[in-house]
Amino acid sequence: MKMLNIALPKGRLGEKVYSMFENSGYECPSIKENNRKLIFENQEKGIRFFWVKPSDVSIYVERGAADIGVAGKDILLEYKPNVYELLDLNLGKCHMCVAAKKEFCEEDVKVLKVATKFTEITTDYYSKLGRDIDIIKLNGSIELAPILGLSDVIVDIVETGTTLKENNLEVKTKFLPISARLIANKSSFKFKCKEIENIANAMKEQVEKND
Ligand code: PRP
Repeated sequence: MKMLNIALPKGRLGEKVYSMFENSGYECPSIKENNRKLIFENQEKGIRFFWVKPSDVSIYVERGAADIGVAGKDILLEYKPNVYELLDLNLGKCHMCVAAKKEFCEEDVKVLKVATKFTEITTDYYSKLGRDIDIIKLNGSIELAPILGLSDVIVDIVETGTTLKENNLEVKTKFLPISARLIANKSSFKFKCKEIENIANAMKEQVEKND
């Protein structure tokens, strides 16, 4: 049996994603014993999991260090990795949104200053609207930008809305639904076809069960 290397996104989404693999018959009990180790395998099942930063999953998969992995649709749209998208896992559901201070009105400015981690998604969104923008690329705590006057608005992921609310910001436009996707390396998909198909089918059953 060929071993399948699986990149899991570290963090709150990762726990849910691992449970889905577990419920699909691809468990790896040692993963729950040690929270500093990064690689875990179950030889019997032919799988090896490793935890990577969520935004790095598609890099591991694109370059074949992982055969399959789970990445958010936001990352796939932003970085456009050359991978196959096999399945919508219906997990980690959130929206890409434009948010700002309650009192801010877009019509008041000619060139909109937009802070975001997602420069491609943002450029694409505003160019379709024909809106002139000045993009400010940040790497985290995006919500600070409009508060400190660094930007007029932000484009970011909103899940529960708590982060915006606690910083006195609000959603102005919700424009893109996001969820976690099972992705595969293109050549692994050829050479480990059976193994990948089995796992994708088992995961699909779980998604349908959870619906
Ligand atoms: C995302 C996003 C928001 C927050 C929204 O950050 O950038 O800050 O989640 O979630 P909420 O609507 O449930 O409050 P994440 O936690 O992924 O961390 P990051 O800033 O490191 O990307």
